[in-house]
Amino acid sequence: MKLVVIGAQWGDEGKGKIVDYLANEAQIIVRFSGGANAGHTIVLDDQEYALHLIPSGILYPDKMVVLGAGMVIDPVAMFNELSMLNERGIETEGRVFIADRAHIVFPRYTEIDRERDLKRKQPIGTTGRGIGISYSMKSERDGIRFADLAWKQKMDELDRADRDFIEPFIDRLRPMIVDLSYYLKHRHNAQILFEGAQGTLLDLDNGTYPYVSSGMSCAAGAAVGGCVGPRALDGVLGVFKAYTTRVGNGPFPSEFDKDSEDDLCRFVRETGREYGVTTGRPRRCGYLDLVALRYACITNSIDSLVMTHLDVYDALDEIKACVAYRIGSRIVEDFPASIEDLNNAKPVLRSFPGWKRNLSDRLTYEEFPTPAMEYIELIERFCETPITIVSVGYERKATIIRKSPWRT
Ligand code: GDP
Ligand code: IMO
Ligand code: MG
Repeated sequence: MKLVVIGAQWGDEGKGKIVDYLANEAQIIVRFSGGANAGHTIVLDDQEYALHLIPSGILYPDKMVVLGAGMVIDPVAMFNELSMLNERGIETEGRVFIADRAHIVFPRYTEIDRERDLKRKQPIGTTGRGIGISYSMKSERDGIRFADLAWKQKMDELDRADRDFIEPFIDRLRPMIVDLSYYLKHRHNAQILFEGAQGTLLDLDNGTYPYVSSGMSCAAGAAVGGCVGPRALDGVLGVFKAYTTRVGNGPFPSEFDKDSEDDLCRFVRETGREYGVTTGRPRRCGYLDLVALRYACITNSIDSLVMTHLDVYDALDEIKACVAYRIGSRIVEDFPASIEDLNNAKPVLRSFPGWKRNLSDRLTYEEFPTPAMEYIELIERFCETPITIVSVGYERKATIIRKSPWRT
């Protein structure tokens, strides 16, 4: 079986935690998009691991992990991450592979990324990891792929600085490089997880352009960046938080109001530890945006939703979710492409009673308090998609499976 896990909001939904959980039943985990802009956190036995490039299945000693063709990879960041894992007792030798069609991020891309974003009239607030530059070099057909490292003429034509940078890595990289299409074809009976990065609303095509990243973070990216056809994929899981966060600039219709909802914002940010894994920036916080979530379900053909961070709402008397936008005199229920509309959108909120109980000590969905179930079931009806997994804490064990995606 082959399953895709993507973010259904603006990233940081808890994909790392969920991929780690589901990887228990997989043999291969393929990250299909993005680069070191991602920060995927896994908490295991009081240890916290922040992964940027290495797929989230790596903490299991027997899983193979592949950095897919849709990724843009900074070799320094990747080897640093492998060293960090090795120093913490995670053996990685012989089980981390790189798709030969993935692109290399050179140091000058990172510099250009930072300079260019500062010069923009409306900065995007990129992570400064050279991601947009790398993907634009790829589209311009000027990028360098891992496959090209064996092509002498191409290497000879490289700028001096680029060659001096990459040459010391070539011997270590060589045994890691695979042709992902054939690698997966030869293992066609394996259980495979395709791990997304960023989220639907940061996807270059389907997100809030131009306030997006540059990779394919939607489900279709799993096929393209994972080197399989769309018919090879058996299911799409969309991970979302019980509220919404966003890092960087761009529209956010359900964002908490700075004047009237500052206390709520601070509560959610501190309880949910909403600070970026990659940049440390405080994340912008807001209500769950059901208009955006339903859009993510439609555009990715999500067949199963995974709700995370429900525990963050444990102490609240009242919970609200955005069920439509008011844009001028219009009530809008479909997520608009227009940034102007999104900037002017005011959330239409629906209120729910809180449950005022600790969810993290519940072992099954049936033990949830009725108001928590009502919140979950309203989301399912609104999105016409079942919520099959509910996460009520950052640890592996704080995960409630209503229906395993590995079973049909
Ligand atoms: P990703 O980029 O989608 O993998 O998400 P991040 O790792 O950037 O951010 C999610 C954060 O929330 C991490 O610190 C996780 O440890 C944490 N987390 C994941 N699931 C839950 C949950 O259900 N409840 C709480 N309180 N924290 C969670
Ligand atoms: P994970 O995988 C949240 C945001 C940046 C910025 C925009 C463009 O951890 O969910 P980039 O450096 O990619 O050109 O920045 O995208 N961004 C993320 N926000 N989670 C991420 O990844 C992100 N990756 C990029 O903050 O607004
Ligand atoms: Mg993250």
